[in-house]
Amino acid sequence: MSLLEVERLTKSYRQMGGESTLAIQEVSLEVAEAEFVSLVGPSGCGKTTLLMCIAGLISASSGRILIKGLEVNGPPANLVLIFQEYNKSLFAWRSVLGNVLFGLEAKGRVSRDAEEKARHLISLLGLKGFERHYPWELSGGMQQRVAIARALAYEPEVLLMDEPFGSVDALTRLELEDILLKLWGELRTTILFITHDIEEAIYLSDKICVLSRRPSRVIERIDVDLTRPRNQLATRSEGKFLQLRNEIYKQISGSDR
Ligand SMILES: Nc1ncnc2c1ncn2[C@@H]1O[C@H](COP(=O)(O)OP(=O)(O)OP(=O)(O)O)[C@@H](O)[C@H]1O
Ligand SMILES: [Mg+2]
Repeated sequence: MSLLEVERLTKSYRQMGGESTLAIQEVSLEVAEAEFVSLVGPSGCGKTTLLMCIAGLISASSGRILIKGLEVNGPPANLVLIFQEYNKSLFAWRSVLGNVLFGLEAKGRVSRDAEEKARHLISLLGLKGFERHYPWELSGGMQQRVAIARALAYEPEVLLMDEPFGSVDALTRLELEDILLKLWGELRTTILFITHDIEEAIYLSDKICVLSRRPSRVIERIDVDLTRPRNQLATRSEGKFLQLRNEIYKQISGSDR
């Protein structure tokens, strides 16, 4: 059984004048336990809408979402969503340590162990020395690391990530991709990752669902048959990598059909 199942999900937004915008149309996908699946699709196609439905933050117009066989009707306790705009997701009034500790407090863990665990995650994400800093004192990439540390501290069974590296510079992005893969390898969390960057999706994932232009439909499901651990230089220059990149690019650019 898949850990996460999305069955024929459709979401239409009703606009002020009575018109409606169809964002996603009959999207179905499955994510197995400990799998890393990415969704790629053009800007504005409905990716965030899909994640918000899975996170139980907005309700779908039709279709259903199951986590471990149970239908999602509100925010599930075993799931965390990392937002596209990380600067909005951290608590401005809490330090780095305070933000990461929140992930543990939310699970009812406030012991001394919790602080040690939070400090360990902070150091794994390369933020040692910044424990007492506040979000506004950090760069964008650093804030996103804090958001990741806080999400992982909670130890969710499902981690949803909405273009988490979209606003950081190219080098930081590669570094964060590797940190994420390392932590995912250790924690074996199930990850559903959204990006419009085809190469990022291939580099990170076990499987990729390619979405069409709005309204989003799944055009193709692709298995990424590349060995792990992955390496920014070696993996990205493999013939298979380039072949997948071309295949997905063609699908997305021809997705008006
Ligand atoms: N709250 C809302 N009310 C009405 N329409 C919305 C709302 N949120 C999104 N939409 C519409 O739904 C469509 C899909 O938006 P969504 O944010 O899901 O796309 P996206 O793929 O995440 O885009 P991006 O790549 O820019 O992040 C857009 O046409 C948008 O205008
Ligand atoms: Mg979005």
